[in-house]
Amino acid sequence: MKKIGVLTSGGDAPGMNAAIRAVVRSAFAMGMEVVGIEKGYFGLLNNLYHDMGPRSVSDILHRGGTILQSARCPEFKEPESVKKAVQNAKEIGIEGLVVIGGDGSFRGARDLSISGLPTIGIPGTIDNDISCTEYTIGFDTALNTVQEAIDKIRDTCRSHDRCSVVEVMGRDAGYIATNVGIACGAEVVLIPEKGFDFKRDILSEIKAGIKRGKEQHLIIVAEGATKDNMSTLKIASRIEEETGIETRATILGHIQRGGNPTVKDRVVASRMGVAAVDLLNQGAGNRIVAIQGDKIVDYDIMDGLKLKKELDSEMIGVAEILSL
Ligand code: ADP
Ligand code: F6P
Repeated sequence: MKKIGVLTSGGDAPGMNAAIRAVVRSAFAMGMEVVGIEKGYFGLLNNLYHDMGPRSVSDILHRGGTILQSARCPEFKEPESVKKAVQNAKEIGIEGLVVIGGDGSFRGARDLSISGLPTIGIPGTIDNDISCTEYTIGFDTALNTVQEAIDKIRDTCRSHDRCSVVEVMGRDAGYIATNVGIACGAEVVLIPEKGFDFKRDILSEIKAGIKRGKEQHLIIVAEGATKDNMSTLKIASRIEEETGIETRATILGHIQRGGNPTVKDRVVASRMGVAAVDLLNQGAGNRIVAIQGDKIVDYDIMDGLKLKKELDSEMIGVAEILSL
């Protein structure tokens, strides 16, 4: 391949810039030119792009966000759009594409590959919810951001003998909630994989804690757990009504998506970027780069998305037992 494209798609994640840098520099090392496509699939459809040489990715390794910007582009689900995107790519001279994003972006990557543009996915999402990989770029940085925020919330919680209900991201998955539940010693962790009943899973735990002498309480809610159930604000008001404990809700929101990537995110993103270019250079397409047991592997996109990734019951057990 002489020329490839790279884009970032879906929710951005810290470490995406490290992945972009690795794609550009490893492609350059293999004698390939790189075109940076702006604003995800929207940019591919609307010819928003620029050439990228090794200097164009200087001084971005440590920065959050994505210098190519990202976007959600629902129209890309239309077959006509995919055909147009492949045509645009060919007119630019792009023979292969690297897409850094989440599972939605990979479905677009699969469509591009079967329509004639070999495309490789790199898992970049703070949710860590891509079934074929143990780790997705941005997850570790998000965990550390949430941990720092919750440690601060704990300080004021302790000063006022309060209960704090903190909502974290995770559109459909409880990986962030479970990990920070252990790291921050939460009394209760609510995740979409298990759902919850207010009286059984929250109120009874708080009352049992009071009996054991607890004077502050921390409840962590994965945003996906509130779907078709009580909102985080409602949970907080119900706790105060039922227990008389002053209770405050904090929705951390998009702070979890920013920040300078941790070493782990920089290293994983760099390794995955090089692996993605290697695959294109070998003539592969329709693959997702993944990490299993700290080894870089790759899967056919649909096979990779079909794999099951259960939230580890041992992790949930640890969070529950240590909250005594
Ligand atoms: P993420 O990649 O983080 O899961 P989204 O689900 O928003 O984020 O997907 C990002 C983009 O990928 C969407 O805006 C759309 O352009 C494209 N996309 C999502 N789902 C599909 C699909 N089923 N088929 C084709 N393209 C898709
Ligand atoms: O997919 C990553 C993510 O941060 C989810 O955790 C969150 O629910 C979603 O993106 C938010 O999407 P948006 O940035 O479009 O509001």
